[in-house]
Amino acid sequence: MKERLEGLRIEALQELQHVETPQQLNDLRVKYLGKKGALTEILRGMGGLSAEERPVIGQVANDVRAAIETVIEEKQEAFQQAETNNRLLAETIDVTLPGKQLPTGSVHPLNKVAQEIEDVFIGLGYTIAEGPEVEEDYYNFEALNLPKNHPARDMQDSFYVTDDILMRTHTSPVQVRTMKAMNGETPVKVICPGKVYRRDDDDATHSFQFNQIEGLVIGKNIRMSDLKGTLLQFVQQMFGAQAQIRLRPSFFPFTEPSAEVDVTCVQCGGHGCRMCKHTGWLEILGCGMVHPRVLEMGGYDPEEVSGFAFGMGVERIALLKYGIDDIRHFYTNDLRFLSQFARM
Ligand code: DAH
Repeated sequence: MKERLEGLRIEALQELQHVETPQQLNDLRVKYLGKKGALTEILRGMGGLSAEERPVIGQVANDVRAAIETVIEEKQEAFQQAETNNRLLAETIDVTLPGKQLPTGSVHPLNKVAQEIEDVFIGLGYTIAEGPEVEEDYYNFEALNLPKNHPARDMQDSFYVTDDILMRTHTSPVQVRTMKAMNGETPVKVICPGKVYRRDDDDATHSFQFNQIEGLVIGKNIRMSDLKGTLLQFVQQMFGAQAQIRLRPSFFPFTEPSAEVDVTCVQCGGHGCRMCKHTGWLEILGCGMVHPRVLEMGGYDPEEVSGFAFGMGVERIALLKYGIDDIRHFYTNDLRFLSQFARM
């Protein structure tokens, strides 16, 4: 019996040397150690042994079982190790590959330019004031020295909600609202950004809805030179230190005197080109000294204080600053246009 056991050990270990798959290994386990396996088969004969032989053979049987089990375990571990290695190899990722780009939005060019304009004036000590887009005729026209039937109203025909309420045609009514809110206090130093509405036919430079930024300063001894210095400072921060301005006499009912402001052409630097129609100048805003009647209606004594005001179109500044040829690009949401500003 001992020989059979030793023979079994040799046969089993030899066969185990040649297993190639976990399945084969398992088959061999069953074949040698299973309930109906070879070892059990031999041990069945133990009943016929003498009391002295039994423990000796028992010991040999245990050794044989242990030897076979050890090799099976080793093999099993080797299979597991190999499987883990294979999986790791299959799952390796190249961390140097470029990642997936997620599309991200960016600030709209009009908002970007509006913010830049605001930043310049905030840097000059201005605060921001806002007013309603649905406005009373009184603030939009009357209190700005544009009484009913005044011919200057024609230039700003708009969308009326009722006879006395309209979509504001400019940000100038915020001047009046600010003055009233200040209760005669000085200094006043605000800019008022916002949307405005006109009946304008839409074309490359006009839109029925656009954005303006208004400015208003009121205090003692505010002079036209303060206005000019402020605008020069603004223009140089917006368009570069080489930019110059010129003031041309103009008319607005709410300012006296009034002026139209030009900046040296951003394209040719003032030499003359197609963009500036060979004048070297581009018109960018309207301004003037606040009309005494407007100061009065706003609750100020024109004998005591004076002020200046200006108003500019954000679209126009953006068109000039970025050399854009059609205002409608701002509103059509074409990503090919908008995404160019994400990188700036
Ligand atoms: N409100 C004027 C417009 O929309 C622009 C303007 C001109 C505003 C002169 C002003 C100003 O404050 O002083 O055409």
